[in-house]
Amino acid sequence: MQNFDYQTPTRLIFGKDVIEELPEVMKQFGKRILLSYGSGSIKKIGLYDKVKELLKDYEIYELPDIQPNPKYDPSVLDGVKICKEKNIDVILAVGGGSVLDCTKAIAAGAKYEGDPWDLITYKVKAKEALPIVDIITLAATGSEYDAGGVISRTETNDKTGYSDPLLYPVVSFLDPVYTFSVSKKQTAAGCADAMNHIFEQYFCEDSTLLNDGFMESALKSLMINTKKCLENPEDYTARAEMMLCCTYGCNGIYSLGNSESGWPCHGMEHALSAYYDITHGEGLAIITPRWMKHILNEKTVERFVKYGVNVFGIDEKQDKFAIAEQAIDATYKFFESINIPMHLKDVGIDESRIDEMAKHVAENEGLEEAWAPLLEKDIAEIFRESL
Ligand code: NZQ
Ligand code: ZN
Repeated sequence: MQNFDYQTPTRLIFGKDVIEELPEVMKQFGKRILLSYGSGSIKKIGLYDKVKELLKDYEIYELPDIQPNPKYDPSVLDGVKICKEKNIDVILAVGGGSVLDCTKAIAAGAKYEGDPWDLITYKVKAKEALPIVDIITLAATGSEYDAGGVISRTETNDKTGYSDPLLYPVVSFLDPVYTFSVSKKQTAAGCADAMNHIFEQYFCEDSTLLNDGFMESALKSLMINTKKCLENPEDYTARAEMMLCCTYGCNGIYSLGNSESGWPCHGMEHALSAYYDITHGEGLAIITPRWMKHILNEKTVERFVKYGVNVFGIDEKQDKFAIAEQAIDATYKFFESINIPMHLKDVGIDESRIDEMAKHVAENEGLEEAWAPLLEKDIAEIFRESL
């Protein structure tokens, strides 16, 4: 087991109607709130009105229209400007991972005099950030319980992940009822994202029985509960369990003491959504089984055997490569069964920019250091196998 130093300072307030506690929670920060949100889903489900009503005694400024794969310009830059001009005390993010990720960049940028991109690219280390509170409305990224965010710059085809302990939300409100309205497409994509967060921690050199059990259980829970959510979007218990599996996804708790994997599928997917603005979870679902096949070898096979036997119940009295291949096939079939488009061409990506994307990934994501190292040619092959 590897050494670790772990702290998640975020307070999770979970369950039906928990946002009634919002006014009390916001008291600790001051009067001026920046309310950040997306393109309207929170208005459709009545959450926007509810928040405004609960916070009627506060001074609220708004940053609407944050897009999926949130953009540096205009969203981050506009948000920073409002925070500085209006002397904002706290940012309240209401929405999915994109709203929250954008909010994290704004929180750091608001306390920095230079170009906020310096912070996102680690050219400069943030010294302070505005506090963040969120009401998460989509089970997927785990941004509500981690210190990271991912920001896109369309003009340079960059989609950059960054992380800073200053950016943990102070409080995250998780009410599964607000996820009832999430579309089938986004529910399935959220599941694929969370499953991939687990794969990125599970497929590594050094893990423990404890962590393997935790992750295998979460994978099974995600598969079972996502199907229930798709069949009945208002199944509270299924939405609630799915939400919690996702919340744990990215903050390291699933894999304390594990060795690093290098997060290869995320490294590759970020290029797909940077170049083509596709849905993150769909990109991951497409790449994952191809990546698994590509890296299957004598060194990696035992992890796939464990995964196949413990998650899918594959008969362990078979050749280890046969088990691994069945496990990869079962992964593909599960994604297909929740109606995720399983080819890049289905999401509008063709052959034309594969080499360019592979070069970009190889230069920026450090995947030659991954548990199963990937060179530029491997990345290009995985993209081609995904077409
Ligand atoms: O914009 P609105 O109108 O709110 O609609 C959103 C958006 O169209 C909609 N939605 C959200 N909640 C809803 C809802 N629709 C109906 N009912 C609700 N309750 O769903 C669409 C997608 O939202 P988005 O926030 O983009 O989805 P997600 O939560 O999957 O976030 C994806 C982003 O997070 C990044 C991804 O790369 C991507 O940019 N990630 C962030 C991570 C992190 N911070 O730790 C880790 C992940 O690996 C990931 O990279
Ligand atoms: Zn992800």
